[in-house]
Amino acid sequence: ADAYKGDYAHFTLKEIWEQPLSILKAGENTRQAIESFADTVRVAKQLYITGSGTSYNAALVAKHLFLKYGKKKIEAIISSEARFYPDYFDNQSILIALSQSGESADVIEAVKIAKNNGADIFSIVNTMTSSLTQVSSISVGLNCGPEIGVAATKSFTSQLSVIYKIADLVCENQVGFDIQKTSSTMSKVLESSSKIQKISQVLKHASDIYIIGRGIHYPIALEAALKLKELTYIHAEGLPGGELKHGPLALMDSNSFVIVINPNDSTYTDTLTSAREIKARGAKVIGISDIVSDVYDHWIEIPTINESAYPFVEIVPIQLLAYYAALENQTDPDYPRNLAKSVTVK
Ligand code: G6P
Repeated sequence: ADAYKGDYAHFTLKEIWEQPLSILKAGENTRQAIESFADTVRVAKQLYITGSGTSYNAALVAKHLFLKYGKKKIEAIISSEARFYPDYFDNQSILIALSQSGESADVIEAVKIAKNNGADIFSIVNTMTSSLTQVSSISVGLNCGPEIGVAATKSFTSQLSVIYKIADLVCENQVGFDIQKTSSTMSKVLESSSKIQKISQVLKHASDIYIIGRGIHYPIALEAALKLKELTYIHAEGLPGGELKHGPLALMDSNSFVIVINPNDSTYTDTLTSAREIKARGAKVIGISDIVSDVYDHWIEIPTINESAYPFVEIVPIQLLAYYAALENQTDPDYPRNLAKSVTVK
């Protein structure tokens, strides 16, 4: 039944709406694996994490999360880059591989390189019968059901959910991941989808969209840019706000659109300052925040939640924005041109 669209116009929309439930199910079929995963990560000397596309963005969230809440360093490696740095890995290394399909050739290659150098492989994967699980010591299942839309949505938040569950164990509850609260807050954001659909109309004639976010929101800005590129074919770029002055500010003018990811946490004030700098150059600013500000031309309100959970809550309006902007631009949100759901060639 999972592979039917039901009442939804597209699989992508259905999969976006499934997220409040799918994050709850993440890892639930492999609870034991989560615990052994956490036990090993806790004592690991050298930790690496890899993935491609959206899965790499989830890997970056993991890097920020473990550093912030557990003082644990994880090196994030883009899977297709691993071949140039085989010496990263040795017999003290643990490589965590993230993949929805478990079949991406780049991910499998990175895993093989690490394994040949003696590394141990842990994976977080949706398809438990995939090639990736066969080369892993431990695999945790995303358990989110088939994802048909080429642009990853629910698999991303399920990857985050598994990562947060592991981090909660490793970082001695510092993460404070209240999954029920996170789920119900995502539902609240989905309820504002008609407002988000209206805002998506302003992106119709955009040729460039910038997304800024700092700290753990930087990987979300990268994921936002990826969704916008895949679904709308509009050029989109994710940036940490502090880097604007080192180059990208030169691009800002009255034709620019900027999405500012600005939840009420330790990044708030710095990000608001960046938003003002952009606004002063005439750009249109869309703010995603629980706090209203005159700097936003359009405000997408998100509910306030405990600090660590904001990534789950802020990606939802961005997925909806990209989906509705795709409809405005008459592209096919489920099957973007030139892309495949699972890339099994290098
Ligand atoms: C393809 C898809 C992306 C996906 C990436 C990694 O490029 O189009 O949506 O993020 O592969 O896929 P994986 O199955 O390894 O997570």
